[in-house]
Order: sequence, then C-alpha cells, then structure tokens
Amino acid sequence: MRYFGTMKNVDGILEVGGVSVEKLAKEYKTPLYVMDQQLIEDNMKKYIDNFKSDKFDTEIVYASKAFLSKAMCQLANRYGLSIDAVSAGELYSIKVSNFPMNRVHMHGNNKSIEELEMCLDWGIGVVILDNKDEIDKLGRLAEEKNKTIKVMLRVNIGIDAHTHEYIRTSKHSSKFGESIFDENIYSIIEKILSYKNLEFLGFHCHIGSQIFDTKAFHEGIETMLNFTKEVSERFNIYIPEMNLGGGFGVYYVDGDTEVDIEKFMQSMISHIEKTLEKENMKLDRVSIEPGRSIVGNAGGTLYTVGGTKETYGGVKYVFIDGGMTDNIRPALYQAQYEAVVANKLDETPSETVTIAGKCCESGDLIGKNMSLAKAHEGDLIFVPTTGAYGYSMSSNYNKALRPAVVFVKDGKSCLSIKRETYEDLVSKDIFLDI
Ligand code: LLP
Repeated sequence: MRYFGTMKNVDGILEVGGVSVEKLAKEYKTPLYVMDQQLIEDNMKKYIDNFKSDKFDTEIVYASKAFLSKAMCQLANRYGLSIDAVSAGELYSIKVSNFPMNRVHMHGNNKSIEELEMCLDWGIGVVILDNKDEIDKLGRLAEEKNKTIKVMLRVNIGIDAHTHEYIRTSKHSSKFGESIFDENIYSIIEKILSYKNLEFLGFHCHIGSQIFDTKAFHEGIETMLNFTKEVSERFNIYIPEMNLGGGFGVYYVDGDTEVDIEKFMQSMISHIEKTLEKENMKLDRVSIEPGRSIVGNAGGTLYTVGGTKETYGGVKYVFIDGGMTDNIRPALYQAQYEAVVANKLDETPSETVTIAGKCCESGDLIGKNMSLAKAHEGDLIFVPTTGAYGYSMSSNYNKALRPAVVFVKDGKSCLSIKRETYEDLVSKDIFLDI
C-alpha cells in the first residue's frame, strides 16, 4: 500500500498527522474518516504556487462536491482558494462556514429558481450557466431584483478523456453544458449578451474526473482558446476569462499514473501563455476547479474488523464495520482501493481477501483480491484515498450512521464532523395522523 502525506509506520502501527490510528479509533470510534490536514494544505499550496502567471490572474476554485465541511472552507479561505458549489445545500454550507461568497462559483445543470435567487441575494462571485433555459431564468430574475451578476457559459468541447463512463462529462451528448459544435451556440451566447444584468466573463469546460491523460487537458486549452477567440471576433467583444474545470487524476492503486500537480500546473500555464501569444489574445484570468486532487489522498477510512470468514467457494472475507454507506465508489464505479491492517504494519501481507461491509447487499465490498496481513476481530483496517467523494457520497442505507470526520496535524486531532446519532436517523420521521 502506498503511503501519502504524513502517513507513517511507527512500531507497526499507522500514524497520520503524528497521531496513531489506534488512538483515533479509541477516541472517536470507527468507522472514521481521517483527514491529513497537512497534505490538504500542501496540495492547496501546490496549486496556488504553480498555477500562476505574470500574463494573467489565476484562480483555484476548490470543487466542494469532493468533500465539503466547515473545516474545508476554513482551509480554502486560509490559502486564498475560491470554492465551487452545485446546489443550494452546498451554497448554504459554504455560507455558514463564513466563506466570502464573492469567491463562490455556482454550477449545476438544472439550477432552481431558489438557487438562482440565492446566487443573486448572497452575492455569489459567478454563476456558470449550463444551458439556454437557465439564461432566461437568471437574466429575468436579475432584472427583477435590479442586480447584476457575473456569468460564464459551460461549454461541451467534445474531448473524450479516458475515464469511467459515469464520471465522463464532456461527450457530445452530455447533460452538462452546450456544445461548441452546435450552430445554436452562437444564439445562446447572443442571448446571454442581450441581458444587461448578466456580465459575461467567458467559457467554462470540465472534461471529466480522475483523468490521467494530460494530453486531454492540453487539447482542452487549445479548443477553449480557439473558441474564445472565434466568439470574441464574431461578436466583437473582449472575453476576459476562461475556466478549465478540474479532473486531475490521483493514485488509488498500482498502475494509476497520477497527475503531478506542480509539473502539470506549470505546463498548463506555459501552454496557455504561448497560445495567447501566438493567437495574439489576452485574458484577465484563468481558473481551474480541482476537487479530488486536493483531498483524495489526504483522506482515509479507518474501520474495525468484526470477524473473518472463509467461504466454501474459497473467498476469504474480512468484515468491517462500515462499507458502501461510507464508500459507494467500488459498488458504483468498480473503483479500486488499497488497504492495510493498520495495527500490523510490520506483518507481511499473507492473505488475499475481500473486504466486505455490513450492508444487506452482496456488492457492498471495499475491495476484492486485496493483499493483507492476517486480520482478526478488533484489528484496524485503513483504506487510503477516500478523502474525495467518500463522505460526500455517503448514505444512511440500512440506517447506517454516517461516520465522524477527524482532521489530524502535528500530533493533534480535531473532530471536524460529528458521527451521526440514532436520534439523527429518525429526527425527520413523522407518525401518520390520517
Ligand atoms: N468542476 C466540475 C464542473 C465538476 O463537475 C467536477 C466534478 C469538478 C470540477 C471536480 O473534479 P475532480 O477534480 O474532483 O475530478 N463522484 C465521482 C466524481 C464525480 C465528479 C463530478 N464532477 C467519483 O467518485 O469518482
């Protein structure tokens, strides 16, 4: 298993952020999401320090769908990142975290009137319009409220990055964005320009998630700049901004060739600078929206083994106290993970096992054919790289309690999201009175 950030083997026991996972399990119980704060901060810094240019401003917009909490908003604010949201719920969570709302970007392929009103009333930095209908909705609302708002248009640039079909977002038939290959695109842009309360900044694209193929991002840069130039000439307007989305792939298992943030950000910047020069273009600002690559490797899930079982069919199971309710990705995307018996790091892995969760669902597995030291009841299993899309996609299936999230750094731990309680589970449940 690969170690990330501050993960360390101390006398056979895993330590994250200078805190032993045995101690964390005792204090906070399991299952538990453990977030390596130092690694999150280092990743944020890497983006800020390397995605910068002296030709244009840059903006790192943390894609909060990966993992959103007050602590994440605090850190994003501390490092000068912006945040993107895709729902009223995310907007609300960001607002109550005291994050400056003028650094929030609002996404979504079907924003409700309520959401658009929130954007106007709360002074959201920019709304990324996803389709034609939304333009009228926001344009009219802004007029009614006599407010102006900055907007971008999400475009679909037809780049097919190699990633899982469910997280691919930029094919020609995607539900997101308007295609730049469609003749209607110009009337859509015209519509935006016709609303005097919508201040058009430029185009946004996001070609998918967990992408290793960096060529796809470079193609994206070319396509976006060409399109920006074409539109700017056609309408005789200056288009000041471009947003290239997120999607930079991280390591989960052997064979994953993660994107090196430092190098890749520099190469994106130099590609943009060169193309601008070649095309005799100018931009005021370029943004990107990394989510997974900021928090993915920084989070891990700690479980306790309840027991083991060797089946008649030959499969050996290790049963853990969580599963698909805290990590749906294996069931949903056939995502793979590594794992370790976190209190037996000095034992050589001697077993090939399937780690299974507690749900009434055969697909409730964290991984098959995993190489582990022999695990027994009471041992701790640590599954790294669950920091992105782990907690945020968790559920109460089988009335599981969502685990707590604890941040660790410099030998200290800080509870960041409380474990759900049984009362939480029924708190919205009402008896019939008819
Ligand atoms: N910007 C936009 C417009 C997006 O739709 C996304 C992710 C991002 C940025 C951030 O992408 P990232 O840097 O995190 O790859 N639930 C799936 C991932 C879905 C991603 C959706 N959009 C998973 O667990 O793999």
